[in-house]
Amino acid sequence: MNPEHKHVDWAQRYRDEQMPWDRGKAHASLQASLNSGQLAPPREGATCLVPGCGRGHDALALAEAGWKVTGVDLVADLGTDFGERIAALGGEFIVGDALNSKRGAFDLVWEHTFLCAIAPYQRKAWSEMVRGSVRPGGRFGALIFPGDKPVDLGGPPWGYDVERLQVWLGPDFELELTEVVDPEVEPRSWKQTFALFRRAQDVGK
Ligand SMILES: C[S@@+](CC[C@H](N)C(=O)[O-])C[C@H]1O[C@@H](n2cnc3c(N)ncnc32)[C@H](O)[C@@H]1O
Repeated sequence: MNPEHKHVDWAQRYRDEQMPWDRGKAHASLQASLNSGQLAPPREGATCLVPGCGRGHDALALAEAGWKVTGVDLVADLGTDFGERIAALGGEFIVGDALNSKRGAFDLVWEHTFLCAIAPYQRKAWSEMVRGSVRPGGRFGALIFPGDKPVDLGGPPWGYDVERLQVWLGPDFELELTEVVDPEVEPRSWKQTFALFRRAQDVGK
C-alpha cells in the first residue's frame, strides 16, 4: 500500500485519548498574536474558518477575541463540549470533511496541524479549500509543524515548511510575518513556525 494512503481513524484517536497534538489550550503563538491585537478581527462580525479544528482550543481563543468562528472536523464526538461553547460565542461547529465542504468568503483561515495530518495527495484539495475560503484582502494564519521533519520520514505528521506552504497557497498570498516558536514555550518534537499571510485585494478581478 502507498504509505501516503495510510488510514488514520481520527474518531478512535479521540475515543482512546491518543492525541499528542492536543495542547489542552490555544497555541501560545496564536494566543500572543490575539492578545497583542496583531490578529484582531478587522470589524465586528469578521469571520474565521478553522479546518480540522479538533477539540477547538484555538477556535475558542479566536472566538473569545471577537472572531465569528466556524470550526470543521471529521469527528463528531471530540469528547468535549466544543460545539456548545463555540455556539455560545456566536460560532458554529460543523462535522464533515473540511476539504470538500465549507467554502465562503472568510476574513481569516487558521491552520494548525491539519495540513500535516492529511496525506500529501490531499494537498491539492487543501490548497483549493483555502483558496476558496479566504476572501480577497483576507488573511491566512498557520502554525507550521513539523517544519524540519525530512519528507522521507513520512507521516502523519507530514513535514513541510513556509516555502512549500507559499507554493500551495499561491502568489496572491503575501507572507506578512514568520516567527520561529520557542521550544521552551511550546515544546514539540520538530520545528514550529507561526506565519501570517495576506491575500491580495484584487484577486479574481
Ligand atoms: C492533528 S489533529 C489537529 C487538531 C487541531 N487543529 C489542534 O491543533 O488541536 C488533526 C485533526 O484533523 C481532523 N481531520 C482529519 N482529516 C479531516 C478532514 N478531511 N476534514 C476535517 N477534519 C479532518 C482530525 O479529526 C483531527 O481532529
